[in-house]
Amino acid sequence: MNLTLKVWRQKNATSPGRFETYETKDIIPDMSFLEMLDVVNEELIARGEEPIAFDSDCREGICGTCSLVINGIPHGGQKGTTVCQLHMRHFEDGATITIEPWRAKAFPVMKDLVVDRSAFDRIIQAGGFISVNTGGTPDANSLPVAKTDSELAMDAAQCIGCGACVAVCKNASAMLFVAAKVSHLGILPQGKPEKARHVLDMVKTMDEAGFGNCTVTGSCEAVCPKEISLAFIARMNREFGAAILRGNGD
Ligand code: SF4
Ligand code: FES
Repeated sequence: MNLTLKVWRQKNATSPGRFETYETKDIIPDMSFLEMLDVVNEELIARGEEPIAFDSDCREGICGTCSLVINGIPHGGQKGTTVCQLHMRHFEDGATITIEPWRAKAFPVMKDLVVDRSAFDRIIQAGGFISVNTGGTPDANSLPVAKTDSELAMDAAQCIGCGACVAVCKNASAMLFVAAKVSHLGILPQGKPEKARHVLDMVKTMDEAGFGNCTVTGSCEAVCPKEISLAFIARMNREFGAAILRGNGD
């Protein structure tokens, strides 16, 4: 495959960015999108040019590190697919492909296609955990969990924290991410004692980080590589309202 790439290049967080055009040839259709970028980078390095900076880690769809907007869609628009699992066979030979970083005030661009997603870390630090006393491992059967609850919690736990939901949202809302993180522990007995305080703290941290609010367009659900349901946002809103009514979240 021969491709024309229009790639966002930005020296650092403070310099203005611009699109650069690269022609690349003989791309194998079974390469992943990131492997295609590796080939482009090898060509750039061979020419003595600066390689394109982009994030990746596991390259198997589980870590949430890869983060490219491809032809205007975070992760490239293949349903339930991270950009590291997106293959070049989904593109036409001779295509022009535009590649940009996540765009959101709370995710500032650091270099080229790499953004700072530490705002997500702060939200998790605010309440995406359960407090446990160390000691002996409890008997697995001592705390029964209803199957419907365990399955719902596992659905929420699939969120890999990639940020595509923010990148696609016209409000740069992080509510799908936060809703998933509120739910995956709050649904389980281990998370229930702290769930009211945690939803208040996570939503407060989300707002302070500069994410927008949800206006239920559903774009987040459409691009989420783990197909996290919009219903989790409704669930978080109920938890948040209940915590407010209780006064202090305890
Ligand atoms: S909800 Fe989906 S799109 Fe948003 S961070 Fe989690 S996995 Fe990524
Ligand atoms: S590199 Fe880990 S999910 Fe894509």
